[in-house]
Amino acid sequence: MTKIKRIGVLTGGGDCPGLNAAIRAVTKSAVLKPKLEVIGIQDGFLGAIEGRFGELTYNDVSGILTKGGTILGSNNRVDPFSVGPNMEDLSDKVMENFHQMEIDGLVVIGGDGTLTIAQRFFQKGLPLVAIPKTIDNDVPGTEWTIGFHSAVAIAGQAIDALHSTAESHHRVMVVEVMGRSAGWIALYSGLASGGDVVLLPEIPYDISKVCQIIAQREKMGRTFSIVVVAEGATSISGEMVVQREIPGSYEKVRFGGIGKSIADQIENITGKETRVVVLGHLQRSGIPIEFDRLLATLLGEKAVQMLINGDIGKMTGFNCGEITAVEIAKVLEGPRKVPRDFHLVKAARSIGTHFGD
Ligand code: F6P
Repeated sequence: MTKIKRIGVLTGGGDCPGLNAAIRAVTKSAVLKPKLEVIGIQDGFLGAIEGRFGELTYNDVSGILTKGGTILGSNNRVDPFSVGPNMEDLSDKVMENFHQMEIDGLVVIGGDGTLTIAQRFFQKGLPLVAIPKTIDNDVPGTEWTIGFHSAVAIAGQAIDALHSTAESHHRVMVVEVMGRSAGWIALYSGLASGGDVVLLPEIPYDISKVCQIIAQREKMGRTFSIVVVAEGATSISGEMVVQREIPGSYEKVRFGGIGKSIADQIENITGKETRVVVLGHLQRSGIPIEFDRLLATLLGEKAVQMLINGDIGKMTGFNCGEITAVEIAKVLEGPRKVPRDFHLVKAARSIGTHFGD
């Protein structure tokens, strides 16, 4: 096993709260005892192609624990194995850039798209370890990804607040949350903040059932309803709303718009005034909650230990209260979706929350 002297760190994909806490943990734990040098790569794999590298010192990462976003910048469009309209393979250029910078180990902080790229570089001979992050929580091999709980807190606060205006005006409020093709944010925020109907990609909804629930609530004197809808929710007839396709990107489509579609249908069918709120990028913004800071610290420290020990090609994770490691190849079998018999789904049904099925 060759002794590692200098490691690189990059953040790829959409940003989220807790990335800086992870960069801080990687850097501090690397420079302190093992006395490694740390090189930050800017804007994810785009910076790796363009050779935009800079040293990260202990001082550089002091004071960033609570800061949202990523001090390194990120990119969720560029795949070095297929760049631009001609799908050019620039992966050799990335390998050469790492070689020239004498980077002998890499920590990749990312979600499924970034991990797919990381695995290809690992197969090309780059020693690396991954840390899972995404507000969507859709990465297999870990119960929690960095950023998820912060996003749930933001969505939960919004749903809490919307109750008062919904109640005052006797309206239906439809709240669209992120999550791509997984319903974790909708489920956790919807249940934590008392959504009446929660629509998940994993449980196809029937709009007439959603409207029946609203009508039933009306009969019971509940003259308002809150519908939480995941951006990737699908109807029983397979209808899904996306903003547009993104050619040449590893994120195939841009989600968004399902909330408006659901709100229009509810208003037409029930005749009740309905409004839509799209929480959008607020869910990935701002300071990480404490859980994400702790998770990022644990996973960042573990990733450095794994690189030093040659335990590479793996992703760190958090499972049943323990910090774990799993091969990235296994993780790519995802995305990790909400099981239909998940305990929170069962509990939600028992207390009268509806999933529109
Ligand atoms: O994967 C995180 C995420 O925030 C998704 O929930 C959302 O669909 C997507 O990124 C939006 O990304 P962007 O606007 O950066 O393309």
